[in-house]
Amino acid sequence: MTEAPAGGAICEFAAAKINLALHVTGQRGDGYHLLDSLVTFADLGDRLTFSPSESDRFTLSGRFAGDLPHHDDPRTGNLVLKARNRLRETTVEAGEAAGPVHIHLEKNLPPAAGIGGGSADAAAVLRGLDRLWQPGLDAETLARIALSLGADVPMCLSSRPLVARGIGDIIVPATGFPGLDMVLANPLRPIATPAVFAALENRHNPPLSIEGQTPADASEWIALVRESRNDLQLAASRIAPVIHGVLDALSSAGASLARMSGSGATCFGLFDDAESARAAADRLAHARPDWFVAATATLAEGDDDHV
Ligand code: C5P
Repeated sequence: MTEAPAGGAICEFAAAKINLALHVTGQRGDGYHLLDSLVTFADLGDRLTFSPSESDRFTLSGRFAGDLPHHDDPRTGNLVLKARNRLRETTVEAGEAAGPVHIHLEKNLPPAAGIGGGSADAAAVLRGLDRLWQPGLDAETLARIALSLGADVPMCLSSRPLVARGIGDIIVPATGFPGLDMVLANPLRPIATPAVFAALENRHNPPLSIEGQTPADASEWIALVRESRNDLQLAASRIAPVIHGVLDALSSAGASLARMSGSGATCFGLFDDAESARAAADRLAHARPDWFVAATATLAEGDDDHV
């Protein structure tokens, strides 16, 4: 598409969000659902660069660039531009300058795929422009702006293994959570999140828990992953039956556990090591060239940042 900004730009990585477990435990009066979700982040994601410019610019590249709106209409526009506008308002209100900026988005993640691509991009904009403009906002203010952009944006600000409750905005680090080797597979059938929540038959499921205890080490976290569920999986599979095929394909490729992330249609398969994940991803990508398939390693809690 168009060129990326030149050297000296601020770069931010927008990691794919993976809901290893997602329990729907209730519904608020405003229609939003109460969740209990175990979330980790992949070493696969979008890349954003920010550089001062004569006027505001937004350029895109990458496999999925063509699937996104380029304008900032409040209802249909790109979340990147909404995030820029919100942070600028708050920066100016704080009496600081928020000059024109060229934002370049390398869109590597499929949109409307249940791995938080738009939310991760919005969080990366908040982190990147906070570095560029230095408005001196505290973490609470940034989290509030993040939540105003979407329920999943606050968790993407941290991009560390976590448990999310409330509507996704109450975040507790998953202390001791291990890195995982997995394969992500998406049939490139976009799914609108509201339609999946609306199709739920049961909105009052038990929370995430092994006998009420918080896991103390990696093996207990893995046990929790295995014993939990994604309560959106059945509803999403009714909307897009191909999800059954994706889960079957991951299991047939050797995954020890296959489950949908978020509201779908991306599913993840867990593997014992990076090599078997890579081999399975290669086989699956060869068999299904029409799908998005990628091997990925997730960050352990306490690891350094992804690139
Ligand atoms: O907050 P966000 O705009 O990302 O949410 C998109 C839609 O997903 C909401 O309008 C709502 O229908 C649904 N949703 C929900 N409960 C949540 C998060 C999202 O019902 N906790």
